[in-house]
Amino acid sequence: METVTTLKSLRRSVDELRHGGTNLALVPTMGALHEGHLTLVREAKKHADKVAVSIFVNPTQFGPGEDLDAYPRQLAQDQDKLLSEGTDILWAPDVAVMYPRGFASHISVSGISAGLCGAERPGHFDGVATVVCKLFNQVMPDVALFGEKDWQQLAVIRQMARDLDLVRPCAEAIIGVPTVREADGLAMSSRNAYLSQEDRASAATLPAAMREAIAAIKGGARVSDALAQLEAALRDARFHTIDYATLSDAATLKPLEKLGDRPARLLVAARIGSTRLIDNMALCLMRSESKDQ
Ligand code: PAF
Repeated sequence: METVTTLKSLRRSVDELRHGGTNLALVPTMGALHEGHLTLVREAKKHADKVAVSIFVNPTQFGPGEDLDAYPRQLAQDQDKLLSEGTDILWAPDVAVMYPRGFASHISVSGISAGLCGAERPGHFDGVATVVCKLFNQVMPDVALFGEKDWQQLAVIRQMARDLDLVRPCAEAIIGVPTVREADGLAMSSRNAYLSQEDRASAATLPAAMREAIAAIKGGARVSDALAQLEAALRDARFHTIDYATLSDAATLKPLEKLGDRPARLLVAARIGSTRLIDNMALCLMRSESKDQ
């Protein structure tokens, strides 16, 4: 595996890899890699001959007072993990390479970015869309893989790729991979490392309460009642702030008051201690949806 940190060396490595028609997958990450990221790498190998992983803690997607400084950075450990997964290129630029002096452009995907995490974290998805577009242009992968844990992020990136007629990758080559969970159901996240022992034990209430809400809605309960019960369960488990708990159309993310015939998603963001956790689960398992529950 080659670790590259400048655009020039990235281009050379990608050109060498591509020689002879080899196709390439990209797994964009912010590092502090866990089993969820490594699953993306394994999945990437099913879609392409070679795999590039990017590690870049993107400052523009963190708001004032968020955890940019505290975000775990552990490049050497990440390199070992990627090496043992057979990654071909690690793209690890620093901030000056990604945003050179005078950088002045950004991408803003309206509509789909507005609610949910976009409402709680103003500017977050502009930062994500801009850096992901840059990563796509830098690596020019045939396919790119993202975790479904960040369901809204995936929707924003697909919308951007459609709207801007991206070619490498095109919107159809942006692949969502089902959320990887700990044994007790908690979705894997680099931010789980912030949880105290006590908060970590309570955090498993989030997926459990979501499953209960899904069962209740599928059993005919009113969506508003099921969501109220979900919020009560979270508060009992010491979640002090619930940013949102909503049933939404899986594609448009518009809130739903009842289940219809289109795929729906239960999406939650809630805070315990100083940690903000997000999770989402499918309601109607249509053929096009993943079975991550
Ligand atoms: O999901 C992440 O880790 C980040 O938002 C991403 C897609 C790598 C962009 O910085």
